[in-house]
Amino acid sequence: MQIIILPTAQDVANYAADRVADVVNTRHHPVLGLATGSTPIALYEQLVARYQANSLSFKHCVTFNLDEYIGIPGSHSQSYRAFMEHHLFGQIDVEASHTHVPLAASMNVAELEQSAKDYELAIQHAGGIDLQILGIGVNGHIGFNEPTSSFASRTRIKTLSESTVEANKRFFSDDEFQPHLALTMGIGTILDAKAVLLMATGKGKAGAVKAMIEGPLTSMCPASVLQQHEKATIVLDEEAASEL
Ligand code: GLP
Repeated sequence: MQIIILPTAQDVANYAADRVADVVNTRHHPVLGLATGSTPIALYEQLVARYQANSLSFKHCVTFNLDEYIGIPGSHSQSYRAFMEHHLFGQIDVEASHTHVPLAASMNVAELEQSAKDYELAIQHAGGIDLQILGIGVNGHIGFNEPTSSFASRTRIKTLSESTVEANKRFFSDDEFQPHLALTMGIGTILDAKAVLLMATGKGKAGAVKAMIEGPLTSMCPASVLQQHEKATIVLDEEAASEL
């Protein structure tokens, strides 16, 4: 695990954008693993700015997002598909058919299980993920792999923990259906990425960051599994690193 501590959240975003640009500029068919949440928004702003300045093109990129809520359509404003369209895909030159977010609008288990299998196959067909961007939940989750997730897990249905539902409540209005289930890449899927870059910013993440880096390897802190990835970089601002 390589740990990089930078002064501010903007420095973290700039560093992550450099890493993405490096993959995009050096591979014939770059495959990016992308994340949602508030943390990577500054990274996506950077990527859009570089595209607009003609210094970066995503024409040959294929992307795979980590996860999606179950039971809301991609057109719903809080779906992760809508998030990605808004913050990135709609503003760069990536081919729409090259962007993948798990298909999870159905509430039918057989359909969702098929969708999960198809997602794994699509990643394989693309040649695997070159660089997987990750955030971290306050309980140490990555993607929607909540505590106790198997380190061997593949894309599947997960029930969100109460703390995750609570943390994400701010995005839904009171009378709106808030999903408690998600389709998420598994920890095994994430570990298959050739390189992983986890971004964490702000004081609220300091406890999870400490558990991930200094704690034992345990499914109670899913992000601790990155201690075993050969090419994992953890990039933190000073606040997120404050308990190390
Ligand atoms: C969600 C996402 C995660 C993300 C986490 C933290 O649960 N599934 O991929 O890392 O939120 O989000 P934030 O960056 O908003 O703290």
